[in-house]
Amino acid sequence: MLQQFQITKPMIQAPMAGVTTPQLVIASCEAGILGSIGAGYLNGDDTRAFIQAVKKGTDKPFAVNLFVQADLTIDVKVLQEARVALQPIYDELNIPPVQTVISTDVYSDQLQAVIDEQVAICSFTFGIPAVDDIKRLKEAGIYTIGTATTLQEAQAVEAAGLDAVVLQGSEAGGHRGTFTEPLQLISTEELLTQVIGQVTIPVIVAGGIATAAQVKNALTQGAEAVQVGTAFLVAAETEISPLYKQAVLQSENGTTTLTKAFTGKYARGLKNDFTERLKDAVVAPYPLQHHLTLAIRKESTAQGRPEFLSLWMGENGHLAKEATVEQIVEELLQDL
Ligand SMILES: Cc1cc2nc3c(=O)[nH]c(=O)nc-3n(C[C@H](O)[C@H](O)[C@H](O)COP(=O)(O)O)c2cc1C
Repeated sequence: MLQQFQITKPMIQAPMAGVTTPQLVIASCEAGILGSIGAGYLNGDDTRAFIQAVKKGTDKPFAVNLFVQADLTIDVKVLQEARVALQPIYDELNIPPVQTVISTDVYSDQLQAVIDEQVAICSFTFGIPAVDDIKRLKEAGIYTIGTATTLQEAQAVEAAGLDAVVLQGSEAGGHRGTFTEPLQLISTEELLTQVIGQVTIPVIVAGGIATAAQVKNALTQGAEAVQVGTAFLVAAETEISPLYKQAVLQSENGTTTLTKAFTGKYARGLKNDFTERLKDAVVAPYPLQHHLTLAIRKESTAQGRPEFLSLWMGENGHLAKEATVEQIVEELLQDL
């Protein structure tokens, strides 16, 4: 699948919204894998600028990843309860509570930027794009990739006409790409076993991939490529805050959790005071909870308090080592 883009190494640098920088994407492309821009939180203009910055650093193809927007109904009572649950943390950080949350629709502008800039590949998480949007991307000659966390979702991605699917196992860091109820947590290996042979589009597998043996197994099982996020979090070309980097490097096995408390959608990250205190709290739906907690995360970084930060990381983050993107790629692909 990647060979049609002259990419010979079967690996995708996972899009990581809020984390990926042009430098990381460029370094990934230059290391011979597919780099991806995590554009989920960007508006249309910033998506365009990001794409142009990557183009300046590499002439290789890359992907842009977007969050499919679900219809949002705002329940004022839920929003108020979610705000009350966060109040003690606003107080501890000495910041005013967020009074209003504005959820602007950036998706159509992001999509337009991808089409105008003739990006080679557009990947999606949180759902399947609308029929018209898929048609527009195809007409523009853009290769499309969906994300699935179950066999049924993978089949839905194929039925919608997307060109390939990323299977995201339960070990994966960051948000679950889940778009069907109920949330199912299927390990990367099990999910691959369930899906291979059940869809005809190329399958890419993601979640907890941290060793050369895992890469080899996934490809032997029939995956066309692996998608790797957490291993690149501490790459020399990634610019995460020192607090976040240290937390990943010092993390131990078994210390991640799934939480909705930061954004309203389930995501895997390091367990901390925030995830534990808000375990049973009322949470506003995505992206409202994201807006309610944004100031908390910003201020925690400023005050050097990792206990209130979203420290997204996969289950195998404890295996991550500081190195350049090129070295990480080389190590993970050494058994092929
Ligand atoms: C910090 C972080 C941010 C992420 N952001 C996105 C995103 O914007 N879009 C997306 O499709 N996946 C995102 N993911 C999930 C990855 O695509 C992938 O499923 C995951 O990184 C694979 O598991 P691993 O982290 O154990 O390698 C993110 C993962 C991390 C760690």
